[in-house]
Amino acid sequence: MKFAKRLSQVKPSATLAVNAKTLELRKQGIAVTSLAVGEPDFNTPAHIELAAKAAIDEHFTRYTDVAGIAEARSAACDYFRRIYGVESKPENIIISNGGKQVLYNLMLCLLDPEDEIIIPVPYWTSYPDMSLLVGAIPVYVPSDSTKEFKITTDDLEKIRTDKSKVLLLNSPSNPSGAAYTQAELNAILTWAIEHDIFVIADEVYDQLVYEPAKPASASLMWEKHKDKIAILNSVSKTFAMTGWRVGFGLASPELTKEMTKLQGQTTSNVSSIAQKALVSALSSSYDCIKIMKESFKKRRDYAHAEVSSWEGIVCPKPEGAFYLFPDVRALFTKEMPDASSLCTYLLEEAKVALMPGEAFGDPNCVRISYAVSDETLKNALAAIKKALYNK
Ligand SMILES: Cc1ncc(COP(=O)(O)O)c(C=O)c1O
Repeated sequence: MKFAKRLSQVKPSATLAVNAKTLELRKQGIAVTSLAVGEPDFNTPAHIELAAKAAIDEHFTRYTDVAGIAEARSAACDYFRRIYGVESKPENIIISNGGKQVLYNLMLCLLDPEDEIIIPVPYWTSYPDMSLLVGAIPVYVPSDSTKEFKITTDDLEKIRTDKSKVLLLNSPSNPSGAAYTQAELNAILTWAIEHDIFVIADEVYDQLVYEPAKPASASLMWEKHKDKIAILNSVSKTFAMTGWRVGFGLASPELTKEMTKLQGQTTSNVSSIAQKALVSALSSSYDCIKIMKESFKKRRDYAHAEVSSWEGIVCPKPEGAFYLFPDVRALFTKEMPDASSLCTYLLEEAKVALMPGEAFGDPNCVRISYAVSDETLKNALAAIKKALYNK
């Protein structure tokens, strides 16, 4: 069967491919530990689950406004006010199927075929494929462990062209955990605004920033530059709600209207029940975030100390999200020349699944997720160390 040409450029999600391999081994009865996961190991907090149950009991099960119920859009405004002191209105908010759909809506609204979208490396694995799906040209800005996986306006200036239309900035970063300070973020946003480049800020990990680092957000600059910046966020990572598929976008009223038009012709509203869960998450106490964050910080400290003590490994200390992104190139050999082959070796030898850096544009690194229990993390890192160093 002949499929549409656009599909030939798109790869299946790398995360899903690793998960499939892990499941296959497990089916064969082999115990595999996955440190390839991209979601919190916590359950959704009980008060949020109860709100969803109440929605079903109240038969809140019909179509809603495409951009989300009024309560959900107001709750998203509350979030930006409570966390950052940023004022917005429901007309600035769209509720979509995860941050992922907000991002895809934004790309479809902002990019014409052949427009360039600037993507810092390492990047979240879906960015290039989504960009290609809308016909845009991804232009990559390299960074690496020596720069703590961050980019500067000098790096951006080197790749800017007349076709540069959008800059896609992710902080804290999946996969590196790098988190920009507010000053660094402001400098990049100012550069983009000066050059008429629209900034999409992916802030889905914004609440997972570990002290002394402080959360930073493009929303602070958005208040003054609403037609130059849009922010995508979601409850997936912050509230352990990955399966609910509910995210929110902050943008100008005009852009929100266009995204709503698009969403109305594609998926319509997010599940009415998931929207009620989002309302509960964003409007209640944020203490549940604190508890999860404390666990992640402890694990980050442990995993980072362990991995960076391994010979030849370079691993900047990540300030956010729940990943380490060590540079492992010192371990490459003729038989194991890149991160993918190293990950295959570790899956077979240590029975631990990691994500190869190729999925994020950096074949010298591997992504280690520490969103697993303390014991699982300890045992898995010990198994990796044994497989790599025989000790
Ligand atoms: C950087 C980044 N952005 C966006 C998303 C999408 O999150 P969701 O659609 O679950 O809100 C993810 C999920 O892994 C991510 O890591």
